[in-house]
Amino acid sequence: MTSITKKLLAWYDQEKRTLPWRAEPPTTQDPYKVWMSEIMLQQTTVATVKGYFDKFLKRWPTVMDLASAVQEDVLAEWAGLGYYARARNLHKCAQMVAIDYQGQFPTTYQELVKLPGIGDYTAAAIAAIAFGESKAPVVDGNVERFITRLHRIETLLPQAKKEIKAETLSLTPKDRPGDFAQAMMDLGATICSPKKPKCLLCPIQTKCSAFANGDAETFPRKPAK
Ligand code: ADE
Repeated sequence: MTSITKKLLAWYDQEKRTLPWRAEPPTTQDPYKVWMSEIMLQQTTVATVKGYFDKFLKRWPTVMDLASAVQEDVLAEWAGLGYYARARNLHKCAQMVAIDYQGQFPTTYQELVKLPGIGDYTAAAIAAIAFGESKAPVVDGNVERFITRLHRIETLLPQAKKEIKAETLSLTPKDRPGDFAQAMMDLGATICSPKKPKCLLCPIQTKCSAFANGDAETFPRKPAK
């Protein structure tokens, strides 16, 4: 394990946000909760998602319950979250898991990414967090910012996406890939923020190329408009 990985996991163990879809050890992650939270978080903030997540879980505690719901009820419960295609796909996905997988979420990135509403990021996140997959890099906006600053990756170059994924994979530990992904997300949300990053509080400040160069806030670089 790299020292960056160790430091970030130690920071996460101390500072991680308490979120309703995160299990505390020794309880293991429920893939239904991980999936539900990741779909809701796609275009919505953590603060807003919390309330909706609790409502959905109360009304439909398992993927089988959600699969049996009528679509209008799912859409009505979704009201306020926006992007209704997400709610329709959520329901469709629950029905596919119920019918094609007997109510058990598939456990690999390759199978997850075929389900409605589950793209590259979401498949990788579910596989890592719920099933311990360490070979599929989990890269959302927060992770991209963290990684591009850490290595001063020039995001304007065509190979940037590949490079970001490769660097993410090389930091991801075999034994705690889901915690590590969420550690990067939490760091990105709270310390390695888009504006005015709090580098003085960062557990890996001494490892960060952008900090050393004094230009963390300029990453990731966006094309001029
Ligand atoms: N954003 C998307 N997924 C998340 C997660 N599992 N934890 C924190 N922020 C997230």
